[in-house]
Amino acid sequence: MLRIYGKVVECGAELAQALGAYADAGRPFDGRRVYGNYGVDVVMRSEFGLESGEQLRPLPDDTFRRMAQDNVRPKAARLLAILLLPKWLRRALGVAHPTRDTTIDFFFRMIRRAIRDVDGGSRDDYIVALVTANRSPIDTSPDTRRGDDSEQSPKTRDLYLTDDELMSNAYVFLSGAYDTTGTPLSYATYELALNPDIQQRLYDEVMGAPVGDDGHTIPYDTLMEMPFLEAVVSETFRRHGFNYRIDRRADRDYTLGDTGITVKKGQRVQVPIHAMHHMAEYYKDPYVFDPDRFMPDQRHLLQRNAYMPFGAGPRVCIAYRFVIMVIKVALTMVIRQYKFVRSPDTDVPLRIVSNPVLYLADRVVVGVERR
Ligand code: HEM
Repeated sequence: MLRIYGKVVECGAELAQALGAYADAGRPFDGRRVYGNYGVDVVMRSEFGLESGEQLRPLPDDTFRRMAQDNVRPKAARLLAILLLPKWLRRALGVAHPTRDTTIDFFFRMIRRAIRDVDGGSRDDYIVALVTANRSPIDTSPDTRRGDDSEQSPKTRDLYLTDDELMSNAYVFLSGAYDTTGTPLSYATYELALNPDIQQRLYDEVMGAPVGDDGHTIPYDTLMEMPFLEAVVSETFRRHGFNYRIDRRADRDYTLGDTGITVKKGQRVQVPIHAMHHMAEYYKDPYVFDPDRFMPDQRHLLQRNAYMPFGAGPRVCIAYRFVIMVIKVALTMVIRQYKFVRSPDTDVPLRIVSNPVLYLADRVVVGVERR
């Protein structure tokens, strides 16, 4: 995380600059779009060591953004075909995945190029980390060895990624990171605009934090330990977490505590995350944005497992710490310079679009003023 922190901060500085154009023009901005560009920039820099330029100037060719959008919002017709048509017909029609083949090819070409350019380059990014980790000898010291005592057991050799696995890892990171940071950031600034007292508390905490010589970089460890910032981000994910539910299939019969309910092997169980986050049983006034629930003096009142925006257990989101870091960097960098306000175009409540999987607003418009 520390390895890419500096790059994320660079993106945050450009985000703050990009918001200046809206503030100076007295125009509100749509967070989904502006923070979406920040998300693109973060991925391009931290994964591929490339500067997208996406935030500060409209690219003549915004293929990356279009492809990334296609990736996270596949067409309904493709989804339906996958659900309804037999495999042989889907193959014949070239509908193997929800995402179009041209989109997948675009990303795979990009990843292949980035992997090829690792040698001899001076980049320091996620692809470089993946490739070099893959080439490094595996640490077989006793405390890291799994299971047997031989110097190089088949198990330890298996820890190397194949080329396909390496490509897939890079693809998951790339495709998963597009909308995922921009959307919660939009919700966070939306809530700050509607709750000026909360915004002021966050501003005070940010301004009280130590910064580096450049006057704006809060050291990584400090950033991750700022209690009110943590509380605002956590409450944003509670109130506006965007996975409605996760599911699991039972691999054996399992009785749930003393409820008398047995989940049979093979049955699917849905965990309604979004609904749980809004149950009065777990959260007082659940529709109120109240970061104090997550402050250290109140945290003990929270119910374990009634909060799971990133899932829970062994299949918890792999990018959890990355996402939180990227959001915290952006929030601290923009709030230092700007105040977010409710504008006539701000939707209260948000207009949530119909989507079976994700909680998404069609726009998150907020006004912005220089401090
Ligand atoms: C706001 C951002 C994000 C949220 C709210 C989120 C949420 C989730 C949730 C709820 C799960 C399911 C966990 C479960 O079934 O228990 C998950 C899994 C996963 N997420 Fe994320 N995610 C986010 C960002 C990302 C990003 C940026 C990446 C890309 C690197 C990513 C990659 C994954 C992967 C690979 C899994 C599957 C993990 C596994 O099955 O072992 N996520 N995420």
